Amino acid sequence: MLKRTHHCNELRKDHIGQEVVLNGWVNNYRDHGGVIFIDLRDRQGLSQVVFHPENAAAHELADRLRHEDVAAVKGAVVARQEGMANPKLATGEIELDCTELQILNKAETPPFLPDEGDKVGEERRLQYRFVDLRRPRMQDILRTRHRVTKAVRDYCDEQGFLEIETPFLCRSTPEGARDFLVPSRLQEGSFYALPQSPQLFKQILMTSGCERYIQIVRCFRDEDPRADRQAEFTQIDLEMSFVDRDDVMDCCEEMIRRIWKETLGVDVPPVRRMSYAEAMERFGSDRPDLRFGMELVDVSDLARQTDFKVFGGALDAGGCVKAIRVPGGGAKMSRKVTDGLAEWVKQFGAGGLPVTKIEGGKVASGIAKFIEPISDALIERMGAEDGDLLAFGVDARPSVVARVLGELRVKIAHDLDMIEPGRWEWLWVVDFPMVEWNEDQQRWDSLHHPFTAPKPEDLDKLESDTANVLSDAYDLVLNGSELGGGSIRIHDPEVQQRVFNLLGIDEDQARAKFGFLLDALKYGTPPHGGLAFGLDRIVMHLCETTNIRDVIAFPKTQAGADLMTEAPAPVDPAQLDELNLRVQTHHAETKAV
Ligand code: AMO
Repeated sequence: MLKRTHHCNELRKDHIGQEVVLNGWVNNYRDHGGVIFIDLRDRQGLSQVVFHPENAAAHELADRLRHEDVAAVKGAVVARQEGMANPKLATGEIELDCTELQILNKAETPPFLPDEGDKVGEERRLQYRFVDLRRPRMQDILRTRHRVTKAVRDYCDEQGFLEIETPFLCRSTPEGARDFLVPSRLQEGSFYALPQSPQLFKQILMTSGCERYIQIVRCFRDEDPRADRQAEFTQIDLEMSFVDRDDVMDCCEEMIRRIWKETLGVDVPPVRRMSYAEAMERFGSDRPDLRFGMELVDVSDLARQTDFKVFGGALDAGGCVKAIRVPGGGAKMSRKVTDGLAEWVKQFGAGGLPVTKIEGGKVASGIAKFIEPISDALIERMGAEDGDLLAFGVDARPSVVARVLGELRVKIAHDLDMIEPGRWEWLWVVDFPMVEWNEDQQRWDSLHHPFTAPKPEDLDKLESDTANVLSDAYDLVLNGSELGGGSIRIHDPEVQQRVFNLLGIDEDQARAKFGFLLDALKYGTPPHGGLAFGLDRIVMHLCETTNIRDVIAFPKTQAGADLMTEAPAPVDPAQLDELNLRVQTHHAETKAV
């Protein structure tokens, strides 16, 4: 095989006269009256290769070249003819005058060409991922992903972290999602769980004296995929001993700074911090998008002064009324659009979405007739101007009001194109509550996970004033998306058991599930804390895509399928027998697949 001397993006005028060899795929071919042109593509770019009839052997072979054939070409770099330069191509000033061609492999006509990828449905792209990944855009994403992991490894190495692998076949870790289970052949009736995260192993590594651990690790959560969520995803997972919250946050912030600098050349400024309480109060979300305003404003006291039954009902039931101001042109939203939004917010528990427009310095339209008496005060409180729209969140449950308006402000900002492109808004959200009340199950759930330490000053009120106990947890948020989260951990076995008790895990259950952790905490565990970033989400931001599947080489669909390999798939009855398993369909019958 002719061995490559250059990549297809490399050749410039300076190379004119040199003999070079390129390897790659036929991106395009054209026959111009006996002279054959191909664009040869490799992962770096394109070069034009020309076959003149004078080089008979190569020319004859070139006549057989078709899209996506794999070829090696040898020839001299020459200047393109006057007026034929292609300024859009890095190699557009030159071409390769081919003297020797080897067709390394013929390709059947592919289901789509890499150049057409943008117009092809995603299902087809995923089914033929090997073609899809040839697209320059996809190659660019894979390269960015590599550069991120390289930057992380370099940074962590300099900072004294050890990269340590933890098992995939584990006991279940309570990260809150459903586990993927793997049946054990050797221990009938027992199952491994694939890790939702290496949380407990990394804590145990701190007990083991490793002091600084890092792993770029696959995690598995059997939850429904979403735009920024896959069942199988990758974390940049780290843990540190003898640290406090600021040490971990500073170290992680510096890692992010390094990633952004090395991939995009962008400087990440010092990241500001906001308490969970403030984020919920002002933005109705624990991952607020700060690229636009529309903050939530409490207008319960004004709402109380009206006769509007919707307001009164919610307030009497212990709820609240908050509003957001959609500026500049909000009032141009048609009735149809605002009715649509009123339907849309119902998924977050709202009964509807009262709105009003501001015209002539007064509330006008929508619920105006009910709130006329508070018009001036409302306009002043909201800082509203003519042309604005006010939208109200009203419910007996303040958490529903926050959620509704929190989601709504994001939707409106996107719908009305209010987000300045290329803007990065970073935020640390800190001081999370330890637990939240699960109304359905009538119990406390951890907001982060059960190993997160309560703030030392709140330890006394763990049992007596549980709802108001804050934890030493922190999340890094970028443009409204949670890039990572972590916490200082509990290192005292007694505190750990108290937290388990609070979560309804009694001593026997705790011993059965987490005996190893409680033991480890007993035998000399240093104070420690850590964090995990979502690698896929980081790459999504860097590559400006909102689809997580774009940044994973072989992702799963919404239905959890890999369309290329057709996983998941039924297995041989013999395999099931070996595992002592039988598949039971949802219907009454029981049958082996
Ligand atoms: P957490 O569950 O917050 O914390 O996860 C950390 C980060 O991982 C990313 N992430 C996901 N990315 C894609 N698809 C998913 N399904 C998915 N789930 C999570 C997010 C998230 O911020 N063990 C703790 C970390 C710690 O305390 O150190 C943990 O896993 O970007």
